[in-house]
Amino acid sequence: MEIFLDTANLEEIRRGARLGVVNGVTTNPSLAAKEGIGTSGSYKEAVQEIATIISGPISIEVVSQDVEGMVTEGREIAGWIDNPWVKIPSTEAGFEAISVLAKDGIRINQTLCFSPNQAMLGAQAGSTVVSPFVGRLDDIGHDGMELVSDIVSIFRYYALETKVMAASIRHPQHCIMAAKAGAHISTVPYGVLMQMTKHPLTDSGVSRFADDWRKATQ
Ligand code: E4P
Repeated sequence: MEIFLDTANLEEIRRGARLGVVNGVTTNPSLAAKEGIGTSGSYKEAVQEIATIISGPISIEVVSQDVEGMVTEGREIAGWIDNPWVKIPSTEAGFEAISVLAKDGIRINQTLCFSPNQAMLGAQAGSTVVSPFVGRLDDIGHDGMELVSDIVSIFRYYALETKVMAASIRHPQHCIMAAKAGAHISTVPYGVLMQMTKHPLTDSGVSRFADDWRKATQ
């Protein structure tokens, strides 16, 4: 399973990239706004900066809600960098926009997916990847990971090319569950990536080896 970073914070992306484990980045208007993008700089400039750090796909979201607006924005965004995935929401207008943009050869990250039906429609329309939002479903008392698992099973059954990206990841256990469910990608906040690197027994093991070696060589 590939790991993408779910952030628009350049420092987090630089640090993640140094580990050599980050295959792409996902952004959205909320993550961009959190970094002051929109007031202190443009979304385009920020994305172009991210593309100098990460060569994999970078997801950039449209903000229009009508077909024409999404298509216009999507075509423009697709020209910003070499490896863009245009994020289009799982709405009626979104599916129409996906089908238009996909026919142009633009790669689509179908976002805000909360049901297997939305995932199936997106795959038919031409989404490159569909993003079920695990944490937001868990937040309202549903089983977000069950959605990931259902979409993976359906796509496998019909040998669809559309990939599944587990999104709205809240903790490291989500990543393990997404991998076991067969998700192709998990997009994770930087804090979760850091948690994934850690285990207390690794830390105590490193200390013990260092102590034992120091005693043996004193
Ligand atoms: C995915 O592409 C989204 O940007 C993201 O995972 C949303 O997560 P949230 O529910 O934590 O906002």
